[in-house]
Amino acid sequence: MRPRGPVVLVCLSFAACGGEAEAPVAPATPPAQAVSPTPAVFDDPALAAGRSIWMDTCQGCHDIGIAGAPKLGDTAAWAPRIAQGQAVLYEHAINGHFGPTGTMMPPRGGNDALSDEEVKAAVDYMVAASR
Ligand code: HEC
Repeated sequence: MRPRGPVVLVCLSFAACGGEAEAPVAPATPPAQAVSPTPAVFDDPALAAGRSIWMDTCQGCHDIGIAGAPKLGDTAAWAPRIAQGQAVLYEHAINGHFGPTGTMMPPRGGNDALSDEEVKAAVDYMVAASR
């Protein structure tokens, strides 16, 4: 009887025996990050309008936290502010406000062309995106 040794060399799968190493696959490009922390706001036309006001006047400080401004989407920073109530936030955004550490929110974000309603809409957007 012949030894069966050579049999173990028989290929068991194409992958093992193809003869060509598979080229390493480049990692897939990660999916693009969502731009807005709360895409749901776009379902609400009032919040979408507030967002465009916010982009024009408020994001300069509130996007990355310039001068101590609470950042959009920073729920920890916004929680105690939101707890003051919407009326207080409106009043501070319209008339300006010095925080306890001396940081200053300028009246209307420094844009006198904004109406009270426009400032309120921007506040609503920022609050909705920061809860
Ligand atoms: C020049 C920078 C700057 C711009 C522009 C700006 N903010 Fe602010 N904002 C601040 C700072 C700094 C604070 C934090 C003040 C504090 O500590 O309470 C703040 C705080 C606030 C608060 C929280 C107030 C409170 O009682 O806690 C609201 C609401 C707000 N801003 C709304 C707006 C809106 C709406 C706009 C655009 C129309 C805007 N801000 C533009 C700097 C800015």
